[in-house]
Amino acid sequence: MNYDVEYIRRQFPALSLQVGGQPAAYFDGPGGTQVPQRVLDAMVAYLVGANANAGGPFHTSRESDRIVEEARLALADFLGAGPREVSFGQNTTTLMFSLALALGRGDRDLVPKSGAAYRQGPATAEVGQGDRDLVPELGGAYRKGPAAAGGGRGKPGRRPGPGKRNEILITQLDHEANRGPWEDLQELGYVVREARIDPETCTVDLEDFAAKLSERTRVAAFGYASNSVGTVSDVKEMTRLAHQAGALAVVDAVHYALHGPLDVKDLGVDFLLCSAYKFFGPHLGILYGKEEVYRELPTYRLKVQSAEIPHRIETGTLNHEGIAGAREAVEFIADVGERFGLERNDEGGGPGGEPGPEVAGGLRPGQEAGTGPEGTPSRRRQKVVAGMKAMEAYEQPLAEHLREELAALKGVKVYGPPKGHPRTSTVSFTMENVPSGEVAAALGEKGIFVWHGHFYASRLVEVLNLEGYGGLVRVGLSPYNTEAEIQRLLKEVRRLSV
Ligand SMILES: Cc1ncc(COP(=O)(O)O)c(C=O)c1O
Repeated sequence: MNYDVEYIRRQFPALSLQVGGQPAAYFDGPGGTQVPQRVLDAMVAYLVGANANAGGPFHTSRESDRIVEEARLALADFLGAGPREVSFGQNTTTLMFSLALALGRGDRDLVPKSGAAYRQGPATAEVGQGDRDLVPELGGAYRKGPAAAGGGRGKPGRRPGPGKRNEILITQLDHEANRGPWEDLQELGYVVREARIDPETCTVDLEDFAAKLSERTRVAAFGYASNSVGTVSDVKEMTRLAHQAGALAVVDAVHYALHGPLDVKDLGVDFLLCSAYKFFGPHLGILYGKEEVYRELPTYRLKVQSAEIPHRIETGTLNHEGIAGAREAVEFIADVGERFGLERNDEGGGPGGEPGPEVAGGLRPGQEAGTGPEGTPSRRRQKVVAGMKAMEAYEQPLAEHLREELAALKGVKVYGPPKGHPRTSTVSFTMENVPSGEVAAALGEKGIFVWHGHFYASRLVEVLNLEGYGGLVRVGLSPYNTEAEIQRLLKEVRRLSV
């Protein structure tokens, strides 16, 4: 592979930072990556040349609208989605709350109408029937007039809530962003069930996951990759299982988005969320909603706000400069693909070196994203897919080497799935005699930036029984990290271990 890490590093001005006379080593990528110059330039250019609110009949407002819509096309290429299926928000957590609140309203139309394809087998056929009787008065409110079509304003005295599909399935592996918003729905009468993990391998127990899905499940909410230990879950299979039960699949792809190409159509998910600041962009949340489901989503929104997708979840004025930056982050990945990856484009291969899901271009007939002829992936989509693969192909051997070296040290325990299981280049460990907070602080003193704790995946740390120990130490590799930085880190860990 011709991957040139020095070229990559030159794109990121932050990498010139020195701490205590040493160059900063940024292993905090799972908490947020650094930002290439072109992303900074795009944000400045927006603020200088197009800074206006949306929808005005004058130059800057038109420019602003154009930039936002071009960004949707870019993010659609990033996700393998159509541009009407891409919405922006403050961050993933806030978008997830909006999504959960909307789904929690119990719109009786949502699953039956859009879920026709999911209703395979007897269990789901019954559910489709059953759901039609749910909260009829609320469903009625959604279907009046254009603003209310498929999701409108609540009526006094009418409470949202569950009907027969009154269960939500979450997992022990996940970040609180894909647990908490669903747990809050318990206030409305929902029952939240939790799929177990195998604590030895930090993988979701798929049998348990399948067993906890039923004709009562409204939503199965799960992560693509664990931000704590890097486990990549079989999202396609989990989505299939959810759909088989007639439930919607909501996927948190925040951690995965830095580590492999996303292809929402191949996965078949209903909603998928990620955040641009985890893949070289600014702080911005992104929601994919499958058109046929999303257009029915009864979001909470202002009556003056568009009820059309992708706007129906976008409350208030968007972070336009952030959106401009997120688009440029996608262009950065495409550039990496063009320079270092395109010949790898059809190799398949997901994180961890295992044969991954076949990464198609993601566009399907009738979709609008990109510039390719109908039904073929746009050129940018191809480059993005190639770029993601090139970066991960560079990081994976580094991560594997780091894991092996750490595991060989006395008193060091490395967490995560066994060799061969799909995983990201995120390496987590504990040291027998040094609490995780002390490890992270000692490394920080040397200009080596790692996180410790639960990283908001607190349930996992609880299950691993590491709460009292400062949680895990997490070393997250990004495409700008080097072998030399890993050696620096190992030297410090070795020093702490004696
Ligand atoms: C796996 C995962 N999900 C969700 C989130 C929350 O994302 P945001 O900060 O954009 O709300 C994070 C942030 O670290 C994460 O790693």
